[in-house]
Amino acid sequence: MDPKTTDWSKLDFSYKYVPYRFHSYWKDGAWDNGKLTTENKLLIDEGAVCLHYGQEIFEGMKAQRSKDGRIRLFRPYENARRFNESAWRLLMPEIPEDRFIDAIKQTLLANEEYIPPYGTGAAMYIRPFMLGVGENLGVKPAKEYQFIVFVTPVGPYFKEGFNPISLKVETYYDRAAAHGIGQAKAGGNYSASLLPLKNAQDEGFNEVVYLDPIHHKYFEETGASNVFFVLKDNVIATPKSESILNSIVRRSVMDVAREDFGYRVEERQVSVDEIDTFLEAGACGTAAVITPIGCLGYEGKRYKFYADGKEPGPITTQLYKHLTALQVGDIEDTRGWLEEVC
Ligand code: PLP
Ligand code: COI
Repeated sequence: MDPKTTDWSKLDFSYKYVPYRFHSYWKDGAWDNGKLTTENKLLIDEGAVCLHYGQEIFEGMKAQRSKDGRIRLFRPYENARRFNESAWRLLMPEIPEDRFIDAIKQTLLANEEYIPPYGTGAAMYIRPFMLGVGENLGVKPAKEYQFIVFVTPVGPYFKEGFNPISLKVETYYDRAAAHGIGQAKAGGNYSASLLPLKNAQDEGFNEVVYLDPIHHKYFEETGASNVFFVLKDNVIATPKSESILNSIVRRSVMDVAREDFGYRVEERQVSVDEIDTFLEAGACGTAAVITPIGCLGYEGKRYKFYADGKEPGPITTQLYKHLTALQVGDIEDTRGWLEEVC
């Protein structure tokens, strides 16, 4: 892509080559210093553990420009912490938080002209990931690891943007097992979601929302975001589960809802039996930002929320506006959530 001729407001959520990425290698118990490279292809052993046994973890983050052109990250130390928690679960080496952040900043600065301008709705998506590499055959952790950060400019995850999407409540397939790797941001969780996603899309839904793997009764999350439900009396309920990703955006939005807007936030098991009581629903995450959910398809019936599922509800809209204004620095960052890149 050519940043000089790109129409930033028309970007979709897809990979676009930009010149630089950061590569670092772990061997014999230590990370090397790492370096920026223009090479976007990897050369790894055919027996690498990541290829056969899924020893791979990643993060998803965004850098955004403020009105004055400055570039900011949203709570990046939370991503660094979660990356290391994922590494722990998959028996991979941790990466010091400062190194993780420094690698991201180096990659952003090297590709600065590709970071979308303020006010376009686009952002620079950041994908840090780690692979278990080196020669291997049996099921065991790798002896060598590669840590990579690439960035790519993106628009909205759902082409609908801030318009209601429809989700299929998945009653058969699970995304993650009860004590599996659902809490880790590991590639395996996403491969498990591909077939149910395709089935749902074939049935006309945008995405899937999973139920808990033990009872198939409590909401979990979608394939790429957490969820929340607006109930009567200014209550917002969001699923609590050990097999979902601990979304940084969801935690942030719920803090804002509780502390700045006075909603009662309930992080608890949310049963499918409550579906009739939802006034609004939303998906939340780095890629999804806040995407209104207009309709849930459950056991052959379509449950529609605000405005018959055709428009975003007022509370979802309020939270979306606040979150997006906060992320680009349009409103004061009272909690120290923004990290300056330059
Ligand atoms: N759940 C899943 C499965 C995800 O892939 C994501 C995306 O990162 C999220 C939730 C949202 O997490 P976060 O808000 O930290 O981006
Ligand atoms: C993110 O929101 O950053 C994610 O990781 C979702 C992704 C799987 C597209």
